[in-house]
Amino acid sequence: MPAENPPVSREAIRLLFVGDVFGRPGRKALEQGLALVAHDGPIHGLFINGENLAGGRGITPRKAEECFRRGVSAITTGNHLFDQKEAVALLSSEERVLRPENYSAGCPGTGHRIYTLPGGFRVGLVNLAGRAFMGPADCPFAAADRVLEDFSRATDPPHFIAVDIHAEATGEKQALAFHLDGRADLLYGTHTHVQTNDLTRYPGGLWFVGDVGMTGPRWSIVGADPVPALSRYRTQVPLPFRVGDGETLFCGLLLTVSPPFGRGSSQVVSARLIREIFPAEASGEDRRESE
Ligand SMILES: [Fe+2]
Ligand SMILES: [Fe+2]
Repeated sequence: MPAENPPVSREAIRLLFVGDVFGRPGRKALEQGLALVAHDGPIHGLFINGENLAGGRGITPRKAEECFRRGVSAITTGNHLFDQKEAVALLSSEERVLRPENYSAGCPGTGHRIYTLPGGFRVGLVNLAGRAFMGPADCPFAAADRVLEDFSRATDPPHFIAVDIHAEATGEKQALAFHLDGRADLLYGTHTHVQTNDLTRYPGGLWFVGDVGMTGPRWSIVGADPVPALSRYRTQVPLPFRVGDGETLFCGLLLTVSPPFGRGSSQVVSARLIREIFPAEASGEDRRESE
């Protein structure tokens, strides 16, 4: 956060939320997708889930930095966060990377921060993990309550609050939507890698989507090469994991927020799910990625 906050822009703000970016094909599709979205106007804030950034498994400083260079404002994560050991140091050193807020108190890093975008618009970003069919985590509902309280006490509170619920179960995500309606601006799901057709404005003003979807290999089993992944399902014999290749998917949620800005007054004037397919790269380098 800068020492002095710049004046808040009077222009409409475009915020893009991208789900799990999977390996090198996902990072390439992110680059292509951003170019496409930027055709219609600037992207002021760009938030991705990076739990699969590095070869489909975890996140490294190098892959995070690559995303920041492409304009990513902040990265949320999830259950694959610690697949790469470098994530521990990254959480302590990089304020633009979050881990689920409802992980153990002793876990490095934090699950919420306020990010000031160029122009002065402040986004309060929250990263939560679900508990149904997922690994152990504290209560995401109580964690959300604590974060909202924390945001409300900030010297410069966010103009817009966005929550990434990294979870498997639709019911848990919808329950959180009712819990947060009227208190946050956006609740978006990640983790399942499949975009859901349920973008909805709740009665209290919360925008919700069950999952924004994966950005990564289209012909894959949630990002992985289908050959070893299918074999494992059929035989239960593990085979070496490979990132899928070929065509890619770019999935995201684009919101336009218009002034006057401020919690309770920031107005989402348009919300649009994006799902684009890009052709395979000429080379097969994505297959050779090992990180
Ligand atoms: Fe994922
Ligand atoms: Fe996940």
